[in-house]
Amino acid sequence: MDLSLSLLLFCGLFGIGTGFVQENCTNYKLQFERVFSVPGDAAMLNSTLVSPDVFDLNSVPYNITWYNSGRVIHNQTGRVLVRGEALWFLNVTLDDDGEYVAILRTPFHCYNQSTRLRVDLPVAGQCGRPLKAEQELTKKANDILSCPLKDYIKKLNSYNINSSITWYRGCQPIEDHKGQYIYRDKTTLMIKGVNAHNQHAYTCTLTFNLGGIKGSVSETINASVREEYSMAPQLREPTNTTLSARIGSSLSQPCTVFVPGIGMPFIDILWYAGKKLIRSADPSDRIYINATKSWQMEDGLHKGWLLEVVLTITELREEDFFINYTCQAQSSRGHPKAYFTLLPADPDLRIPIGSVFVCVTFLFITSVTVFYLFKVDIVLWFRRVFPVLYTNKDSDGKLYDAYVAYPQPRAIGYSEEVETFALHTLPQVLEKSCGYKLFIAGRDCLPGEAIVDTVEENIQASRRLLLLYTAATFAGKKHTSSAGSSNNNNLSKNNNSEGDGRSSEVFDEDGGEVHRDTRQQLECVAAMHRSLLERTLKVVLVELEEISPAQLALFPESVRHLRKKQGAVCWWKERRKRQRWWTCARTRAADKEKTGQDVQTSPPPPSLSPSSRFWKKIRYHMPVRGKRATYPETTALLNL
Ligand SMILES: *[C@@H]1O[C@H](CO)[C@@H](O)[C@H](O)[C@H]1NC(C)=O
Ligand SMILES: *[C@@H]1O[C@H](CO)[C@@H](O)[C@H](O)[C@H]1NC(C)=O
Ligand SMILES: *[C@@H]1O[C@H](CO)[C@@H](O)[C@H](O)[C@H]1NC(C)=O
Ligand SMILES: *[C@@H]1O[C@H](CO)[C@@H](O)[C@H](O)[C@H]1NC(C)=O
Ligand SMILES: *[C@@H]1O[C@H](CO)[C@@H](O)[C@H](O)[C@H]1NC(C)=O
Ligand SMILES: *[C@@H]1O[C@H](CO)[C@@H](O)[C@H](O)[C@H]1NC(C)=O
Ligand SMILES: *[C@@H]1O[C@H](CO)[C@@H](O)[C@H](O)[C@H]1NC(C)=O
Ligand SMILES: *[C@@H]1O[C@H](CO)[C@@H](O)[C@H](O)[C@H]1NC(C)=O
Ligand SMILES: *[C@@H]1O[C@H](CO)[C@@H](O)[C@H](O)[C@H]1NC(C)=O
Ligand SMILES: *[C@@H]1O[C@H](CO)[C@@H](O)[C@H](O)[C@H]1NC(C)=O
Ligand SMILES: *[C@@H]1O[C@H](CO)[C@@H](O)[C@H](O)[C@H]1NC(C)=O
Repeated sequence: MDLSLSLLLFCGLFGIGTGFVQENCTNYKLQFERVFSVPGDAAMLNSTLVSPDVFDLNSVPYNITWYNSGRVIHNQTGRVLVRGEALWFLNVTLDDDGEYVAILRTPFHCYNQSTRLRVDLPVAGQCGRPLKAEQELTKKANDILSCPLKDYIKKLNSYNINSSITWYRGCQPIEDHKGQYIYRDKTTLMIKGVNAHNQHAYTCTLTFNLGGIKGSVSETINASVREEYSMAPQLREPTNTTLSARIGSSLSQPCTVFVPGIGMPFIDILWYAGKKLIRSADPSDRIYINATKSWQMEDGLHKGWLLEVVLTITELREEDFFINYTCQAQSSRGHPKAYFTLLPADPDLRIPIGSVFVCVTFLFITSVTVFYLFKVDIVLWFRRVFPVLYTNKDSDGKLYDAYVAYPQPRAIGYSEEVETFALHTLPQVLEKSCGYKLFIAGRDCLPGEAIVDTVEENIQASRRLLLLYTAATFAGKKHTSSAGSSNNNNLSKNNNSEGDGRSSEVFDEDGGEVHRDTRQQLECVAAMHRSLLERTLKVVLVELEEISPAQLALFPESVRHLRKKQGAVCWWKERRKRQRWWTCARTRAADKEKTGQDVQTSPPPPSLSPSSRFWKKIRYHMPVRGKRATYPETTALLNL
């Protein structure tokens, strides 16, 4: 930019001597830089002999004399001024064109040097100087022109002389802060948003007052506008945030810089860890940066280059944390920077949270399973331990805790064993051991009473209805004892005995077969009606022998529905379990004794202990024998 008037001509020319000077001087020949001027301007010739490279300035006294064609140059008011090592022409004329010799004398030696002053006529009809300096402006950017008169200003400053600069575009003076232009400092003109219009000749004129004369000197710049340009870089990443990472892990963070413009920008991208510049680009180092990668971006609004330098720390150590990692982009148009701070990451909570979740789930499933497996025991235990929580049902106007319905003598499905169970086993456990009050049709009903009335009344007076049945109870004539059930448990003795002539809608599902089991039918109809439709009675199904699916299909739909909904309490399971245990015990005993005796195979007596599985289930279904009579309602749990 500072390519000034001086042309790079090596001083191969012979130093042009003045002939008559007889001294033996060290000849420094023609000065490298020429001085160009036009008539009317001021011009300054400066001798560079006053330099530590030439002699010891500080200890050796010296004086300088300027010569032109062998004659010493003196001060001429208003025209020529010799001041220190400088020769000033305050009002250049065409005659001043030529070479001037400066001789520097010290007490022991002398040095000579010549300087060329070239005076050109201005080109007619053109403002500015015939010789121009070249400067480039970058399109779209804010760019500057630099006035090539720094030497004059410096010299005048050293004289303590004020000077001022005026800029011209062609012949037109430029005002400060007008349009695109700003006078930025003494020698530079800033042009905002350079465009093709700025491709023009700009002249800067320095005016000053020297030796009583107002002098001025000008330089002209041929400014060209370059299409290729780069604007101020923009840092996209990092973004002055914190980054979390765990010790031992690796970290890669790109520094992304966008440079709007055309043409590859000249830019350096640097990473600092704290204040230390990261230099290594070797991936085998723990901390290194990758070479700059760049992409051209051409999407309408954003035309430019994207550059990226990745910082990699392969294995984070403790000393890497709590440090600012700063990325800085450096170009002639700016040097923005941004950082990220590295913090240690919180410990990974996924595993503990996951474990807790799994444990809670497991506990929940276990609890639910345990509850369902031991529901009966838990509820019974509750009733026993916290009787206070349950309402005493004694005052609800009912006479009985349960109504026991079972096939009566001469009815379908009647068997002695069923009757025994109903008349002896049930009362023994429920009434004697547990204190319940039962209504058992075959025991408590007075002969001769109107059947319909007793059934209705007594069911109404009961809190539960225990419906005892075998495979044959509902099967009528279709029952076959071999229908898949274990003969072992087959309590029923098929008995299609006569009834008293009333037909039942409920049991007459298989097409016109008429049964006459009046009491049983009435009980069943009434019970099902109350249980399923009115929901005022709880019916407990007591299954006395195993029922095969084929047998079950013959059951009334209401019973099948109830059985599916709430299940049945199975007496036969209890019997079978006891038998198996008993058989095993017997076999073991037999093995032990090693006797060939025939083992008695008759089944053991059914359990009469209220804490056996069967009785627990029955008790579970039976009403609670609570302690408090006043508490009106109980919670859902306690209703279990
Ligand atoms: C200056 O240098 C020239 C050679 O370049 C020489 O001929 C001349 O004598 C020198 N003048 C003085 C005064 O030494
Ligand atoms: C000039 O100086 C050189 C060496 O510096 C010397 O050789 C030469 O004789 C001198 N000439 C005269 C005329 O003194
Ligand atoms: C003039 O010459 C002197 C001594 O050689 C040097 O220090 C100074 O910078 C020059 N001044 C200009 C304006 O070139
Ligand atoms: C020329 O004038 C300046 C001041 O105007 C003075 O400093 C300088 O010494 C003069 N030079 C000569 C050779 O008289
Ligand atoms: C410079 O010289 C020219 C002619 O020699 C004269 O007309 C002009 O007024 C002078 N300028 C100044 C500023 O002295
Ligand atoms: C310059 O210096 C030389 C020698 O050092 C001396 O003879 C001469 O008189 C001085 N000239 C001036 C103008 O001071
Ligand atoms: C130079 O300019 C400054 C202000 O720019 C002014 O204060 C000062 O007086 C001026 N000096 C001379 C010698 O004109
Ligand atoms: C200015 O520069 C441009 C190219 O940079 C060139 O074409 C043109 O001739 C120059 N003008 C002058 C007056 O030097
Ligand atoms: C960084 O450079 C290394 C090799 O110099 C290369 O393996 C790695 O993929 C580079 N990483 C990125 C993000 O470009
Ligand atoms: C990181 O830089 C920010 C902004 O310059 C500063 O506030 C913060 O204190 C720095 N943190 C560290 C650890 O140097
Ligand atoms: C980020 O912080 C730096 C100083 O460290 C600041 O110069 C820069 O403007 C900030 N960048 C953002 C996007 O805040």
